Parts: sequence; structure tokens; C-alpha cells
Amino acid sequence: MTNDLIAATAAHMEHLFAGEGSGHDWAHIRRVWLMARRLAIAEPGADPLVTELAALLHDIADWKFHDGDYEAGPRAARAWLASQGASEDLIQRVETVIREVSFKGLGVATPVSSLEAALVQDADRLDAIGAIGIARAFAYGGHKGRALHDPAVPPVTHDSFASYQKNTAPTINHFYEKLLHLKDRLNTDSARAVAAERHAFMETYVARFLAEWDGVD
Ligand code: ADP
Ligand code: NI
Repeated sequence: MTNDLIAATAAHMEHLFAGEGSGHDWAHIRRVWLMARRLAIAEPGADPLVTELAALLHDIADWKFHDGDYEAGPRAARAWLASQGASEDLIQRVETVIREVSFKGLGVATPVSSLEAALVQDADRLDAIGAIGIARAFAYGGHKGRALHDPAVPPVTHDSFASYQKNTAPTINHFYEKLLHLKDRLNTDSARAVAAERHAFMETYVARFLAEWDGVD
């Protein structure tokens, strides 16, 4: 049942997200799944079934694409797991992880209530930084029709989820409003070790971007 349910969930998500182009594609989900599994080996004690299912289902119905309905994700995960005969206890544990994963603005705390949530949150955040993170940010910005950069628009600290959601700033601001802070918003030492090089690469990237913007490189 355990491995069958994980395999069926992976196949379901691959089918649902195969053609997605905004940064929440199957490739992102697959990376988060693999990273959560890797972190679970390095940080023992997590329930592998909850960790893997939550990693696979964490973006099943993202609030950004459902008019800010935060319950859309847990609801869609519940419907899928129930259709596969999962127990109510398992469904609730996965739903709780999904509710806790998302970044909600630099000034908003995002505490986790389980080791499984800590690992999935870390895995999702690691996929937002480094070379892949840079690509995803510009893919998302392009999807939303945002400018790459506008020196007249300063970055802001979003103190509420509502303010973070309403943000329409140029994509380079997203580095200051989220991506460059993620290494300090991780739960586990294992994730922090992975983040170090990805963060350094991003810092180099942003410095080069700004130098080229002003023609001084
Ligand atoms: P999380 O994975 O923490 O829930 P999101 O779902 O908000 O984060 O973001 C998904 C991807 O889209 C991430 O790579 C994130 O950095 C990127 N993204 C989100 N908001 C923006 C934005 N305003 N500009 C550029 N990229 C963004
Ligand atoms: Ni994600």
C-alpha cells in the first residue's frame, strides 16, 4: 500500500502538471519530492509516507492560482488521497504539512508543527534558490508579465500574507523580498548545508545582473 500510494500519487501529479509553465511544473514537484526524501534520510525520525506524499502534493492547488483560497490545496490533496483509500489520520497529517509549507512574506513567520512539515518546507525552499531558483523566479515573472528590474521600485518587507500576495514588483525585487533570505528561513542543518552554495551563486548572480544593468561590468 505504502509504495503503491506514493507511486500512484507521483503518476497523478506528473499527469496533472506535465504542461505547467509557471514554475510549479512536474519537474519542481519531482525535485521537492527527491529533496524531501534526501533530507528525511539525513534527519531521521520523519514518517516517510507523510513526507513523500506531502512533498508530492504540496502544490496541487496553489493559492496564487486559486484566487487566494488557501484551503484549495489541502482540499485537493484530501480528495485525491481519499480516492485512493488513505486513512483519515494520514490525510489529516498530509493536509497539515501542505498548509504549513508556503512562504507568506518576509515579515510573516511560517512555523511548522512536525518534522515532516519541516523537511517539505525546506525542500520547497531549496528549490526556490540557486540556479533553478533564479530560473523559476524569471519564469514566474514572465508568466505574470513583470519587468526584470526597475531601479525606481524599491524592495519591501511584506508584513502580511495579503501584502505579499498583492505584490506586482519587478522580478529582481523578489530576490530581496524572499530568495536571498531563504537560507535563514530553513529548519534543518541538512538543508542549510545544501543552501550555502546555492545562496552564494545567487548573490554572485544578482551582483552581476545589477552591474550589467548599469553597464559597468
Ligand atoms: P513557495 O514554494 O515557498 O510556496 P511560491 O509557491 O510562492 O513559494 O513560489 C513558487 C515559485 O515562484 C518560487 O520559485 C518563487 O520564488 C517564485 N515566485 C513567487 N512569487 C514570485 C514573484 N513575485 N516574482 C518572481 N518569482 C516569484
Ligand atoms: Ni513548491
